[in-house]
Amino acid sequence: TTKVTMPALAGMKREGKPITALTAYDYATSRLVDEAGIDMILVGDSLAMVVLGHDNTLAVTVDEMLHHTRAVRRAVRRALVVADMPFGSYHGTISEGVANAVRFVKEAGAEAVKIEGPRVELVRALTEAEIPVVGHLGLTPQSVHRMGGYKVQAKTAEAALQLRADAVALAEAGAGAIVLEGVPREVAADITAELAIPTIGIGAGPECDGQILVLHDMLNMTFAPHAKFVRQYADMAAVMRDAVEHYREDVERRAFPSDAESYHLPAAMRAAVTA
Ligand code: KIV
Ligand code: NA
Repeated sequence: TTKVTMPALAGMKREGKPITALTAYDYATSRLVDEAGIDMILVGDSLAMVVLGHDNTLAVTVDEMLHHTRAVRRAVRRALVVADMPFGSYHGTISEGVANAVRFVKEAGAEAVKIEGPRVELVRALTEAEIPVVGHLGLTPQSVHRMGGYKVQAKTAEAALQLRADAVALAEAGAGAIVLEGVPREVAADITAELAIPTIGIGAGPECDGQILVLHDMLNMTFAPHAKFVRQYADMAAVMRDAVEHYREDVERRAFPSDAESYHLPAAMRAAVTA
């Protein structure tokens, strides 16, 4: 198993090999995702919603993202580990954005950072600072207030051309890959054909060079109705609910633990304590 690197992703695009990506946020799930052979693990700021229970992604802090990124880093042997820069950590000056990105590499072992929006100057500065960058265009959840909700983007010819221009600009500034979220299939296909760097789609159709999903969505561990683009590969909510209910029933009827699940004194000492 050779380590996946950012340049390796571009190689996969050239060879026409689909890039597989998922989010993960802790040691156990990252280990499972890595051992299943997924190429890229994103410590997404979606953890604000799916792990921490916030209504949107805006509240999660750099320190919280670092905490989760460290846990993922300890688990992963093969996949490329990408950390999402949270809202506010790269929206001020370029030097603040670079300083925060350096923390993800230095303090948490991230191999790349992801930033939302056409922040061309910042991508150039991060690239000059030796930090690989994944861009993220289209439906960018940190823009929820500006967008007025989570809506498919680039639905007009004008908006589609702007999106393509933004993607080209990010690539020219040094981005190693671009996540395209919530855009028409045709628009994502056009951008994918235009760029030498890979596109990773989520709700962006099958022509993207790779696909990413939120792990908890595809395992049915999120509690809101799923978006159209989510395919549910397992019902972990049902598996966990059944297991926990079964355990509760066993404890309530004293069926757990059994004698075999108990420790015992040596036979010679039993009489002394059960007298
Ligand atoms: O935070 C996240 O999970 C993401 C992916 C869905 C691309 O940004
Ligand atoms: Na994100």
